[in-house]
Amino acid sequence: MPEKFVDPYGRDVNYLRLSVTEQCNLSCFYCRSNPLECGKKGGKALLGVEEIKSIAEVAVGLGITRIRLTGGEPLIRFDIIDIVKALSAIPGLNDLSLTTNGILLEKMAFKLAAAGLGRVNISLDSLDEANFKNITNGGKLQSTLQGIENSLKAGLIPLKINMVLLKGINDHEIENFLTLTINKELDVRFIEYMPTQGPKKWSNYFLPLQSVVKIAEKIAPLENVPGEHGGGPAQYFRLKGARGKVGLISPLSRHFCHSCNRLRITPDGKIKPCLFSSDEIDLSDSLSSKEKIKEGFYEALKKKPDPQKTAVNPADRVRQYQSKRTMSQIGG
Ligand code: 5AD
Repeated sequence: MPEKFVDPYGRDVNYLRLSVTEQCNLSCFYCRSNPLECGKKGGKALLGVEEIKSIAEVAVGLGITRIRLTGGEPLIRFDIIDIVKALSAIPGLNDLSLTTNGILLEKMAFKLAAAGLGRVNISLDSLDEANFKNITNGGKLQSTLQGIENSLKAGLIPLKINMVLLKGINDHEIENFLTLTINKELDVRFIEYMPTQGPKKWSNYFLPLQSVVKIAEKIAPLENVPGEHGGGPAQYFRLKGARGKVGLISPLSRHFCHSCNRLRITPDGKIKPCLFSSDEIDLSDSLSSKEKIKEGFYEALKKKPDPQKTAVNPADRVRQYQSKRTMSQIGG
């Protein structure tokens, strides 16, 4: 058993989010400063399969037990199946998952499951064809819906749907999202829109999640669900009788830095100790040496910010969050 990988503030870091590309096959209006960059080829050199594997092996050796592949859109990488195969073979990695917009899952769900992927989180901000098209700049809702069906059939479960709540854009769809959990074995998680280097007018779209609870109460009595495995940031409840759960992720109105259990890797090989800080530890010159990768991880662990120093007041926190990368460059 590896030793525990614990940061200076006592947090057990056991979760790695590994972004494999900045590119995306959708271009959601709120996700990046320039939507035209979503499909851009080239840019900074990406980590290759062997490099990703080395980073993951070192991380698991240090005490990471869960890895999530993310992007941009991870499924647009031609070698994503090879990446999944390489990581799923690492002994000690208990949970290998992937975050996707689901467009390519229609074709790939079974191949991903066969390659050793455990489960998927699917980003879906609208259940209305026209609204989906608007938000994503031309995406086809039907592809994502078919991707969800095929993922369930392929056993990529528990399956979670992530919906970023955007005032005036999709808040009229809250009820439809809630009712998805009634008949299907999937969890729907509502996420507060976070201020990042995206569209300038963050406050135009920000809506706290209390509105979700009010609408849920009108549909059915709510049942508490005790803390889920992995200790992620979501708080869960269930509509009485429903098959799936409802999750609320409130980075702004609720403060969860004290339970942060994660590090992030950017597609160009940097470790980010915190989603919101601009600190990065560059591994790109260390990738041929596992010893150097390990040193990088320890440095990142030391640089995880003090949770006591995160502003309590949401408005102050917005000013405090000054990450230089857009969400699409970090992978959420
Ligand atoms: N706030 C909250 N979630 C965001 N995402 C992208 N940008 C933001 C933001 N500013 C979400 C995507 C996806 C996940 C990877 O991150 O919609 O669900």
